[in-house]
This record gives sequence, structure tokens and C-alpha cells, in this order.
Amino acid sequence: MYKVLRKKVLTDTGVDRVILLDIEAPLVAKKHKPGHFVMLRIDEKGERVPLTIADANPETGAVTIIAQEVGSTSKQLGRLEAGDHILDFVGPLGQAAHYPEHKHVVCIGGGLGVAPLYPEVKHLYQTGSHVTSIVGARNKDLILLESEMQEYSHEFYIATDDGSYGTKGFVTTILQELIDSNTPVDLVIAIGPIPMMKAVANLTRKYEIKTLVSLNSLMVDGTGMCGACRVTVGGETKFTCIDGPEFDGHLVDFDEQMRRLSMYKDKEKEVLIQEGC
Ligand code: FES
Repeated sequence: MYKVLRKKVLTDTGVDRVILLDIEAPLVAKKHKPGHFVMLRIDEKGERVPLTIADANPETGAVTIIAQEVGSTSKQLGRLEAGDHILDFVGPLGQAAHYPEHKHVVCIGGGLGVAPLYPEVKHLYQTGSHVTSIVGARNKDLILLESEMQEYSHEFYIATDDGSYGTKGFVTTILQELIDSNTPVDLVIAIGPIPMMKAVANLTRKYEIKTLVSLNSLMVDGTGMCGACRVTVGGETKFTCIDGPEFDGHLVDFDEQMRRLSMYKDKEKEVLIQEGC
């Protein structure tokens, strides 16, 4: 059993609630590298869900996960409090992110994508890259980890769809401005909703800027056996759980990913209605 050490509500608009949990998992904390994720199961009846590791402290053994309460399991996760326990917490899984020498990296996070982006920003900053971060959300109340991202960024920008904070527009508005200002960009890392990652990849393709995206595919076993997380990258089938979650954004078939992610939406709604959520 894995103990919940800390719980914090990061955003709560009455419609959207995002929570942060620190879980006591010393072995995972020790082995974690940016890009890794965990599969957790709250109890014997629970489904297995993949969640990216937002931070890890090898000294305290705490692993930080961030979840948006959208489905049955994430809502159950949101009801946990410090002192409660989780049955399974398996990881770290997936391939750690690899960054060949890059001088200027633009890190773009949309919505909940800021959570997996944060350890990458921190790592790049601490290992000498010049980091420009762009965080996007629908509105001011949904911006996540602002001060944490700012701490490890040389330049920091915010974009909101409604203009309630930062630049009015999308993260690509700011990225285009950066490119237009002739600032050399060696690598872009984009993590967030599929349409956002697709838009970023379409923009950077024109300028031949290497772009990595992190996919949040449906997963069942997390070990490469079931095929649930398959994705087409450069015409080849890859499994997000063992080959990813990061891939070359210029090669990912984003439309296929969008179709696959919407496949079980109706089932999830049925479960939420049955559970009275
Ligand atoms: Fe089963 Fe990736 S989750 S193959």
C-alpha cells in the first residue's frame, strides 16, 4: 500500500478541479527521470490509470502526481486525503526524455500538460539549457504551477483563450512571435491537449525546429502487451507505454490519437451517471 502524504487542490472552478497528491513511493522516487509515468490502482475494484510524474524527491520518497477530476477514477482519487492509501503504484514506466545538446529550448504546456512538463523544465534549466516556457489555459483560474515553472525558466509567458491573464490567444501566438523575433530556437517540447500539440508541431515543421510531444494515450497494462496505447509515428505503430510517452511531433498521427481518445467517452459518462457523480 502507498500512503498519501499530502493533498492540495490546485484549481477548483466548480466545474474543473485539479488535485496534487504526494505519494510515498521511495523506489519510484529514486529511479524517476523526466518523462516517466506511473500506473496506479486505488483499490481492488479500481481501474489502472497512467499518470505522469510531476515531481519526485528521492530523499523523502515522495512522488508527486497531478490529476484532473474528469472520470470515475480521477474523481475517486480526488476524494483521497493525506493518510489514505493507494493499492498499486507501479513505476517509473516509459522512456525517460532524452535531450541531445540544446542551447535554447522552448517548453510549451497546455492545461494539465504543465504537470508532466514541469520536471522537464526543471531538468533542462538545471543542466544548462536556456529555457523559455509558455503556459496556456482557457482562463486565469486554470493556470497550473505558475511559480514553479517561473522559477526554472529564463523567460516565462502565459496565454489564455479569453485574455483573462497574459496574452489573449493560444500558445502558438507567443511561439510565432518568438520565431518572428529571430530568436534561435533549437528544440520545442509541447505537452497538452492533442489539438494544441498538433498546432505547435504544424507551426514548427515550417521552420524545421525539432519538436517533441508527450502523448497521453489510453492504457491498460502499461507494459507493451495489450496494444491499447498504440500510436502511429512516421507510419510505424509504436506503443506509448514502452516506446514513449515522448515522440517526434512532426511524425505523430494526431488525428488517429484524437479518434482513439474519444472512443470510450460515452462509456465513461455511463459510469459517472451510475456512480451519481
Ligand atoms: Fe498496453 Fe501500452 S498500455 S501496450
